[in-house]
Amino acid sequence: MANYRRIIDNLASGVRVDGAVLAELIGPAEERVREYAAGLAREVAEQHFGKGVFLRGLVEISNRCSRGCYYCGLRAENDAVRRYTLEEEEIVAACEEGYELGFRSFVLQGGELHNIEQGIAHLTRRLKSTMADAALTLSLGEQSEATYRAWREAGADRYLLRHETASPDHYAMLHPSWMSYESRLECLEVLHRLGYQRGAGFMVGSPGQTVHHLAQEIDFLGRLRPEMVGIGPFVPQSATPFAKQERGSVERTLLMISLVRLTLPKALIPATTALASSDEAGTVRGVLAGANVVMPNITPARVRGDYAIYDGKKSFGSESGEGVALLTEELARVGYEARMTRGDHPDYE
Ligand code: 5AD
Repeated sequence: MANYRRIIDNLASGVRVDGAVLAELIGPAEERVREYAAGLAREVAEQHFGKGVFLRGLVEISNRCSRGCYYCGLRAENDAVRRYTLEEEEIVAACEEGYELGFRSFVLQGGELHNIEQGIAHLTRRLKSTMADAALTLSLGEQSEATYRAWREAGADRYLLRHETASPDHYAMLHPSWMSYESRLECLEVLHRLGYQRGAGFMVGSPGQTVHHLAQEIDFLGRLRPEMVGIGPFVPQSATPFAKQERGSVERTLLMISLVRLTLPKALIPATTALASSDEAGTVRGVLAGANVVMPNITPARVRGDYAIYDGKKSFGSESGEGVALLTEELARVGYEARMTRGDHPDYE
């Protein structure tokens, strides 16, 4: 592995790196390899974003879901979860409180439902009219082109829809047969066409994933070129078919963040909640690996514990709206500055 520097340098200069070669780096995720990749990733991020880390207020608007993803605690079949759907008033109030705290970027996330076009369009118009200088991101699963268009026309700026894995075969291991990899990619195409800044992403260490799949992620993202990429370790959830599976490696997740940063220098890459929930210093470690976004949870506290996509999900402390001061301090301690601006992709400004 003496030439790991050259391999990472190649990736950073846009030279296509063979998947098998990359897999050899990703598998062991050795410390010297991670550190070298992270050092370059930080340099690259700094060129485009300085020492800034964008904060976005995350509102988990509903934990109801029609899907059956084997890894996720919100899957329709799970009746061990207390279901909730926030009223429009509660969502607006949560965002307004966030706005008061200084947030100018909000993410509304929820399970995938198909009777919500009107409601979300209305909510979007309302938020965009009262908080016109704030960016709005939606993350509500796969929807029809008409629905995505309605939401875009209502003012939504961005959409997060992780592809979960770049491999169709692996996708089939993570989802019931009635869910399709093709339809997910189709959605990502439509979102792009409609002018959304779009977010893709994947889990690290999901059941059945090999290092070759992870190498494929780099190639896939280099071709898709999404504006945002969410990367977090898989964390088992006790009421899912994957309850007994091993959790994903934090170190490998950090290396993947660095490699994705080198592949997509201007991307918005969050230090995810799954990372923060897996490691005491996960958020800071993510930023030091090349991430430049953190999404503190501003969901009303009464339901915050019910968005149980995996066990041990952090939603209070520095992962929360109340914890912004703490988060700001944690970032400052390692030389980074929390920014509460819209935080657009540089090509969209
Ligand atoms: N562990 C880690 N991440 C998960 N997600 C869903 N379930 C889990 C889990 N058990 C991620 C998926 C989804 C996002 C909202 O959360 O990637 O797209």
